[in-house]
Amino acid sequence: DTANHARRTAYHFQPAKNWQNDPNGPMYHNGMYHLFYQYNPHSALWDIGNLSWGHSVSGDLLNWAALDTALDPTSPFDANGCWSGSATILPGALPAILYTGIDASKEQVQNVAFAKNPSDPLLREWEKPAYNPVIALPADVPGDKFRDPSTAWLGRDGLWRIAVSAEVDGVASTLVYRSKDFVRWERNAAPLHASRAAGMVECPDLFPVAERGEDGLDTSANGAGGVRHVLKLSVMDTLQDYYMVGTYDDAADAFSPAEPERGDDCRSWRRLDYGHVYASKSFFDVRKNRRVLWAWANESDSQADDVARGWSGVQTFPRKMWLAKDGKQLLQWPIEEIETLRRKRAGLWRGTRLGAGAVQEIVGVASSQADVEVVFKIPSLEEAERVDDPNRLLDPQKLCGEKGAAVRGGVGPFGLLVMASGDLHEHTAVFFRVFRHHDKYKLLMCTDLTKSSTRAGVYKPAYGGFVDMDIDDHKTISLRTLIDHSVVESFGGGGRACITARVYPEHVATSSSHLYVFNNGSDAVKVAKLEAWDLATATVNVVVGDHHGL
Ligand code: FRU
Repeated sequence: DTANHARRTAYHFQPAKNWQNDPNGPMYHNGMYHLFYQYNPHSALWDIGNLSWGHSVSGDLLNWAALDTALDPTSPFDANGCWSGSATILPGALPAILYTGIDASKEQVQNVAFAKNPSDPLLREWEKPAYNPVIALPADVPGDKFRDPSTAWLGRDGLWRIAVSAEVDGVASTLVYRSKDFVRWERNAAPLHASRAAGMVECPDLFPVAERGEDGLDTSANGAGGVRHVLKLSVMDTLQDYYMVGTYDDAADAFSPAEPERGDDCRSWRRLDYGHVYASKSFFDVRKNRRVLWAWANESDSQADDVARGWSGVQTFPRKMWLAKDGKQLLQWPIEEIETLRRKRAGLWRGTRLGAGAVQEIVGVASSQADVEVVFKIPSLEEAERVDDPNRLLDPQKLCGEKGAAVRGGVGPFGLLVMASGDLHEHTAVFFRVFRHHDKYKLLMCTDLTKSSTRAGVYKPAYGGFVDMDIDDHKTISLRTLIDHSVVESFGGGGRACITARVYPEHVATSSSHLYVFNNGSDAVKVAKLEAWDLATATVNVVVGDHHGL
C-alpha cells in the first residue's frame, strides 16, 4: 500500500526486496565499490538456514547495481547458511572472502572464497575451494558460538591475521588466527580481548586510525608512529556496537586500551551509535584515502509488517570515520558524495533567535528525503538544569525518556522536528539538552520517537547519548540529520554522537512531511546556520519498472 511504499529508502542501501542484515565484505577494487550483505533470497524474514551473501556494486557508494548472490549455502561446509565475514585484497590484486559457514552438522566454521576471475570488474563469481573449512570448530568453543571473521591484516612477520568471535569457556572472546597462505590458520593462545560479562560478541573489527587528521589507513598499517587501533565489537545481548581505541602490538597480538578504566566488559566502552544499528563493518577506501563504516539498521515494526512490505533492513549511510584529537573517540560523518544528491535548498537567516517555546517551520524542502545541517549557539549556560545526583547522569537513554522534547527545560531541549505531519501530531524530535552537575556541563543528545507514529505496535523509544565535548568552551553545537522516509540518522557535535532511528509515520500515506526547528528551553538559543536540502533519489538496486521515491 501507499504507506508501505513510502517507507522505502531513497539513498540508504537496500536490496530490491527480501531480508537483509549485516554488511559483509565491503571493499574497493579495480575502480568499483562492492557491498555484500546477509541476505535471505526467499523472504523478508531472517531464516537461520537460508542466509546467502547478497552482492551489489557501485562507482560512487551512492548508486548501486544488484548482482546475483555471491555465496549460497550449497556446500557441505556452509549447507546451513553463509553467515557474516569480510573481504581482504591479497597481493596480486586478488580479492578473498573469509566467512562463517553453518556446516552440514550445523556447526560454525570459517571458510575462504576467492574471486573466480579477479579481472572481472564486477567480481560476479566466487569460488569456494573444496578444502574448506579453513578453520574448523575448536574443541573449547560451542558449535553455535564461533563466527564473523574480520578483514585480515599483515603483521611485520609477514603473516596474515584475522579476528574471529568465539565463546571460550563461557567467556566472550575475540580470537586471533595467523596464516602464511590464507588457507592454513593457527590460533594465538591468548585472545585479543575477553569479557566474562558481555555475553556473545559478534562481528569483531580491528582497524588502524591515524593519530592526527581525517585520512584513513590500510588495515595492515601499524608500527610507525602516529597509528592507533580501534577494536569494535557487537554485543548480542544489547544489540549494540561498542568500540575502544588503543594500541595493537603485532608481536604478541595484544590490544591495550586507551581507556582501561572502562573495564573489560565492552558494554561500558564507547558506542558507535546510540540508536538502532548493529553489526557494523569498516573498510579502507584507497580511492579517497578514508575509512568508511557500514552498519545494519533493522526495522522497528513487526515481522508481519516486514512480510507485508516484502523487505526488511537497511544499511546506514556510509560514514567516513576518523580519530578525534582526544585520542579516545571516533568521529563519523556522512561521506561527501551525498552532496551530489542535494537539490533545492531552504534555510534560516543567520542569527535567528529561537525564544522559549519557539517552533519554526523550514519551508521549501520535502522533509521525507532531506539533508539538514544546523548550528546552534547557546548565549548562556546559566539556566542549565542542575543535577545533584550523579547517578541520574549514568543512563542517557533513560534521561531522554524522562525528559522528552515536550518537557520544558533550561538550556534545551532545542533541535529539529522531522518527518512531522502538518498538525505536528506525528513528529520525530532530534534535540539537545544541557545539564549541570556541580561545575561540569553535560550535553545530552536525544532522538525521541514517542510521537514518531500514531500507530501502535511499533518500537518508539527515546534514544540518547552524551556528546563528549566541552560545551562551555564554545557554546556551539552542530546537528546534521539525514532523513530518508523510514530512516532518521543524526550526527551531533560534528560526528561525536550518532543516533540512527527507524520511523513509520502514518501521515505519509496521505500527506507530505514537514520540518521544524524548535526550542523548548526557558533560555533563548540562536541558529547560527541552518541549511536543508531536498535529496535526489539514488539508484539503489531498483528493479527496472519499479518506481519509488519523491
Ligand atoms: C550478527 C549476526 C552474525 C552472523 C549473522 C547471521 O547480526 O548474528 O553474528 O554471522 O548475523 O546472519
